[in-house]
Amino acid sequence: MDKQAPRRLFTGGPIATLDASSSPEPYGLLSRGAVLVEAERIAWVGPVEEAPATTDVEHIDLAGRLMTPGLIDCHTHMVFGGDRAREFEMRLEGASYEAIAQSGGGIVSTVHATRVADEEELFEASAQRLDRLLEEGVTTVEIKSGYGLDTATETKMLRVARRLGAQREVDVVTSFLGAHALPPEYRGDREAYLRLLVDEMMPAVAEADLADAVDGFCEGIAFSVPEMERVFDAAADHGLPIKLHAEQLSDLGGAAMAARRGALSCDHLEYLSSDGVSAMASAGTVAVLLPGAFYYLRERHKPPVADLQAAGVPIAVATDLNPGSSPVGSLLVAMNMACVLFGLTPEQALRGVTEHAARALGFTDRGRIAAGLRADLAIWNVSRPGELVYPLGVNPCVAAYLGGSLRRVSA
Ligand code: NIG
Ligand code: FE
Repeated sequence: MDKQAPRRLFTGGPIATLDASSSPEPYGLLSRGAVLVEAERIAWVGPVEEAPATTDVEHIDLAGRLMTPGLIDCHTHMVFGGDRAREFEMRLEGASYEAIAQSGGGIVSTVHATRVADEEELFEASAQRLDRLLEEGVTTVEIKSGYGLDTATETKMLRVARRLGAQREVDVVTSFLGAHALPPEYRGDREAYLRLLVDEMMPAVAEADLADAVDGFCEGIAFSVPEMERVFDAAADHGLPIKLHAEQLSDLGGAAMAARRGALSCDHLEYLSSDGVSAMASAGTVAVLLPGAFYYLRERHKPPVADLQAAGVPIAVATDLNPGSSPVGSLLVAMNMACVLFGLTPEQALRGVTEHAARALGFTDRGRIAAGLRADLAIWNVSRPGELVYPLGVNPCVAAYLGGSLRRVSA
């Protein structure tokens, strides 16, 4: 380790490491713990009385406050133009999400608004959404395209996402979601759109290094399993990992197909079958639950959480922040919903936005507090981890560290 690298020693508060080798307690909790950070990495974690003797160290007293890993929102659509408040009203008046989509609203209405928005305007609106997440201790966020559905707008969205990562203190990971909906100008010619996606859009995105993964929406109102297989073949040609919105409104078998192709994650999963659960378990694919969409669409059919857990499928939780099915700009709210609506425990919800969310994005260097991992950390004005999930509309985050450096957040 470079002698000049800054060293920080945190003591004086409980530490939810989520790491069994650091503590066998629930949450991997060290009630009187210490964390030594050297440069951007965690160098040592353990009980405070065993902390290594250190010199040249900045000592930070947690003053009884809880430390967790920085939070990870592994599924968002936060770059978009316009809003869909009118559709929210229509759904409350009885229209279904599918019926609105079939009559030219839904995703396609955001596509119109995103195509006409200029890059600066999109950046400003998205940065405001991102800042709310950062205030809640989010240190890594995934952002999808999918409201462009043409080469110019898909690349515009992804450039905005990359810029958010460059101009804000957060790690941004991007997914190319050209297979989100059939754009209106291709109605009646799905084949031509898929050719455009595979032959022009994806190569342009890959060439400019704008995407870290390829995603799709496998559903009756979007793309079929064979169509998604073509998109995933193209992703493999470009060396890009895959993930899939699957089994949200019906069971098409998309999750099993994606898992068999080594998908990082399958997301939503309300209608996931037992075949889908087994395929995900065998492949090590993460199940990303999106309770915000379930809540806003007033779904009744819950994802098979107990079956996923019994099969050992890691479960992540994300906001799905988007203007239609999940205008949820808070990961703490999504955690609360995952507990209240889907029956996760607060510990499972916290693992869902740290350890398992990291895995859903293909990261092995974050999501827990353990020696060798990145020092992405959040500090909260609570004394027990369950308090993060218990209230709604309360943000107890007081500070976050990204790669060992303090990022101040307003509390
Ligand atoms: O994850 N399910 C598909 N895509 C988004 C919805 C986007 C929208 O309605 O604009 C989702 O819920
Ligand atoms: Fe989504």
